[in-house]
Amino acid sequence: MPETVQVLFSREDIGRRVRELGEEITRDYRDRDLVLVCVMKGSVVFLADLIREIRLPARVDFMAISPYGEATEGSRVVRIVQDLDQDITGLDVLIVEDIVDTGLTLSYLQTTLEARNPRSIEVCALLDRSVVRIAPLDVRYRGFDCPVSFVVGYGLDIGERWRNLPDILTVADPDELEMNPELLASYLDGSVAGPEVAR
Ligand code: IMP
Ligand code: MG
Repeated sequence: MPETVQVLFSREDIGRRVRELGEEITRDYRDRDLVLVCVMKGSVVFLADLIREIRLPARVDFMAISPYGEATEGSRVVRIVQDLDQDITGLDVLIVEDIVDTGLTLSYLQTTLEARNPRSIEVCALLDRSVVRIAPLDVRYRGFDCPVSFVVGYGLDIGERWRNLPDILTVADPDELEMNPELLASYLDGSVAGPEVAR
């Protein structure tokens, strides 16, 4: 693997942390009516693992959004490309996100969902890049604190590729990887042994 790409969180690290989050959510939502809202597409892999660690009769729903123009003065208008199919009135909503960066996307989404009168609304993010936060946001459940460098894998993409990687990698130059996918060839074919070696 090139030096510009490193394993940040291995599949083992992720598995362990997702189990802990599932246990915590199970404890907190025992007498609630939980619906997990997955923000596509990056959060799909995290959601799939997380729901199997939650021992409750929880519901799942999906939402797809895309940024609508540039961020201005601490807010970002987001277009809802696909809306939930369930009515969330009176339900306990847990928004599942892959990564919270500036927080602009999520704070817009939270405001939109709050208007539908759920009983409660919280955020579960696998990665929290809290140092770049613009919109104040309470991330109730957090997998890992994330450094500023760009990350891919476990649902996160560069130009729609690499969501299928089982580990989370940091990429020093995302443009380089987008133009030259061969850079990850040895990682993909397994000739770079486990994450311990790549680290
Ligand atoms: P925010 O509105 O700045 O918080 O944007 C968060 C969204 O940007 C996430 O849901 C991701 O889809 C995307 N994103 C931010 N950082 C990364 C990264 O390092 N890798 C891949 N996607 C990212
Ligand atoms: Mg996302």
